Amino acid sequence: MIGVFDSGYGGLTVLKEFVKLLPEYDYCYFGDNARTPYGTRSFETVYRYTLECVKYLFDKGCPLVILACNTASAKALRTIQQRDLPALDPQRRVLGVIRPSAEATGQYTRSGHAGVLGTVGTVQSLSYPIEINKLNPHIRVFQEACPMWVPLVENNEYRKDGADYFVRQHMNNLLQQSPDIDVIVLACTHYPLLIDKINKYVPSGVRILSQGGIVAESLADYLRRHPEMDARLEKIRARIFQTTDSPELFDRYASIFFGEDVKSEKVTLNG
Ligand code: DGL
Repeated sequence: MIGVFDSGYGGLTVLKEFVKLLPEYDYCYFGDNARTPYGTRSFETVYRYTLECVKYLFDKGCPLVILACNTASAKALRTIQQRDLPALDPQRRVLGVIRPSAEATGQYTRSGHAGVLGTVGTVQSLSYPIEINKLNPHIRVFQEACPMWVPLVENNEYRKDGADYFVRQHMNNLLQQSPDIDVIVLACTHYPLLIDKINKYVPSGVRILSQGGIVAESLADYLRRHPEMDARLEKIRARIFQTTDSPELFDRYASIFFGEDVKSEKVTLNG
């Protein structure tokens, strides 16, 4: 199976695109709902939680794990890839969502001014400016942390009028940093749920990049370039959903993110 990890429900917006583009593969989605949100937690905590979840997915038999969470990708991916993976199992792979999104940003901006909306953790890590500038040093990256957006989504308040206040506030804060921003990356897998509200505050000519499709294309490309990994992945279209919190709650909300009903099971991590 391909393991797909997020701190909660957000990664389901990515899994949805995986299933659309690569339906033949087996997927195990793992949401650490009991400890969400990650976005406001320290580097050390996000790293420790993410590593526990990756180890769990490895034990479950996933040779490939996608961190479908920007905060985990920003704060834990590099250490896991460089320090933990060689000791755990050098034949397995853990990939994140930031690199493919940084590549897409470079492809789409004409003005060379790009905006990034993310959690406090993702913004503070500077992972986006660093990755985007590694590929295109001339691009200026403007960031805005939106700490209220994940709670709005997780609490199913994202369609209500109250959400407009927080969406407008952060969109304005971002756009005030440069009138030339022509691409905005939704650098949190929860944010696509807010797209109708976000679109209300986006000037015409500004392109919004949602990550699901971008990360799915990148996964397809990775599997084409790594037939040895592709050969290790089962393809009987199995979908498993696991959560560290209540499965009843997960099933109720997950369909909003995933677009179809899911039946999850609860898992307990050993640490
Ligand atoms: N969905 C996660 C991300 O992409 C953030 C959610 C959280 O704060 O846990 O960053």
